[in-house]
Amino acid sequence: MVTHLKQGNCMEIIPSLPMIDIWVTSPPYNIGYPNPDTAGTARKGVDYTSCNDCIPEGIYQKSQQDILETMYEKTTKGGSLFYIHQNRTKIPVIRKDNRGMTKKSGIFSSPLDWIRRTRWNIVQELVWDKGSSHQQNKARFTPIDERVWWLSKGKPEHNHNIILPTILRHPKPTSEERGPCPSPFPVNLIHQLLEAVAKPNDIICDPYMGSGTTLLVCKRMGLSGIGIEIDKETMAHAIKRIERESHDGAQSR
Ligand SMILES: C[S@@+](CC[C@H](N)C(=O)[O-])C[C@H]1O[C@@H](n2cnc3c(N)ncnc32)[C@H](O)[C@@H]1O
Repeated sequence: MVTHLKQGNCMEIIPSLPMIDIWVTSPPYNIGYPNPDTAGTARKGVDYTSCNDCIPEGIYQKSQQDILETMYEKTTKGGSLFYIHQNRTKIPVIRKDNRGMTKKSGIFSSPLDWIRRTRWNIVQELVWDKGSSHQQNKARFTPIDERVWWLSKGKPEHNHNIILPTILRHPKPTSEERGPCPSPFPVNLIHQLLEAVAKPNDIICDPYMGSGTTLLVCKRMGLSGIGIEIDKETMAHAIKRIERESHDGAQSR
């Protein structure tokens, strides 16, 4: 079992990786929005240090389509991708009407829009019920879910021991687990996903590693993992978190 962490842009690093059996990942969601008071200057909806979370939606979707295709090329036959994302109502324009009122217009967008433009086979859509959300808006129901799209390259090869429902209930991680990463996965969610499909010699990769949850779970399960993260500070937090795991693990054995 080996753990490799690579700092840089996943789009540039993935082509140099060995073939991957299982990907588990969650990219930035592009949920920033323009600030009307500064004439369209990007205001961050999620505070990522090294990437802009407010780019034109069409460019965002094309970049996600491209990264999904790049991952597909590097996936073994029957391999899986758990792609965690959200159905979003994007607010592309905030403008003043002729009475000086602020108007918001929203456009609903589902990641299925761009997943369907790739070669990935869609196995299932799972719901991650987080139980709460900061995205409160009195005009709509509060979204407390994210989605996990289970995708495969051809017919999925897995352990055939899945006795889980399609709704996975896990509260959002604590601020201590978050570190500089604003939106980490819960450890138990990743554990359930990997337990359902991973075989002992599989190589797992998270190309948008963030705080390193996928790699931490791989280590606990004795699986080889590769993590890629563009932001140096987030990378340093992930390294510490995974090293602490080895140290605590060694002490408890
Ligand atoms: C939604 S967070 C991932 C959270 C992660 N699942 C966890 O448990 O902490 C997305 C991460 O992708 C990183 N990122 C954004 N663009 C990237 C790129 N092109 N290559 C590698 N990492 C990137 C961000 O810095 C951020 O840490």
